[in-house]
Amino acid sequence: MMSKTIVVVGASRGIGRAMVELFAQNPAHRVIALARNLEKMNDAFAKYENVTTFRLDLAAANIRSECEKISTSLDTIDILINNAGKLVNKPFLELTHEDIQSCYAVNVVGVMETTQAFLPKMKKAHIVNISSMGGFQGSVKFAGLSAYSTSKAALCSFTELFSEEFKDSEIAMNCLCLGAAQTEMLEEAFPGYIAPVSAEKMAEYIVNFALTADQWMKGKIIPVSLSTP
Ligand SMILES: NC(=O)c1ccc[n+]([C@@H]2O[C@H](COP(=O)([O-])OP(=O)(O)OC[C@H]3O[C@@H](n4cnc5c(N)ncnc54)[C@H](OP(=O)(O)O)[C@@H]3O)[C@@H](O)[C@H]2O)c1
Repeated sequence: MMSKTIVVVGASRGIGRAMVELFAQNPAHRVIALARNLEKMNDAFAKYENVTTFRLDLAAANIRSECEKISTSLDTIDILINNAGKLVNKPFLELTHEDIQSCYAVNVVGVMETTQAFLPKMKKAHIVNISSMGGFQGSVKFAGLSAYSTSKAALCSFTELFSEEFKDSEIAMNCLCLGAAQTEMLEEAFPGYIAPVSAEKMAEYIVNFALTADQWMKGKIIPVSLSTP
């Protein structure tokens, strides 16, 4: 039976939580769930023997050493899903230093440092970065998302640059630019908006992609959206 060690960052709610539940249904997998809210993850995943939870704050200065501590308990990492995200919805002129800084800390710097810290445990692996349609070149843009969407665009760019440096390795990195999915993040940012896709349905796509797509692609930035263009 296929057995993988899978790390999901941003696992306490929304799409990340749904992904952990899907991976955990295969008892051969070992799933490592990371987020700030440890209690929430422990409640959500108590029923799964193959899920281990750790508290991790991507915006913390000691992110590297925290990831290194987590990785000492792992022999290998086969899949890393950089799913945690921070969204600020505010007109450009009202954005504070903290608003801009926090989007970049979680969506870019945290992802890069987490990846650096977990890489020594990867031999043949698939890293999936979760970006947004807002960060996908040529997509429809929304007012108020300049801090969030530019940081997600940086995540797309990181995917290409990492892939160039690691092209001779067996470590594949790809980036999924998600369209709207019904989660607390979406509800908080756009109250009342109803997304065409549930968190569970979006998680289903990402889980299948993470388990299989590295056979065919590396360094790709893929829109996953029902909207046009
Ligand atoms: N939902 C959508 O419509 C949509 C569309 C496009 C892209 N996306 C992207 O898809 C991903 C998942 O979105 P979602 O809607 O499921 O979001 P969500 O419901 O807000 O969940 C985000 C997850 O990230 C974690 N997180 C946030 N800040 C963190 C930090 N500083 N350190 C560690 N973990 C942190 C949260 O856990 P804690 O608070 O416990 O830390 C939570 O588990 C995000 O990257 C988002 O940008 C979502």
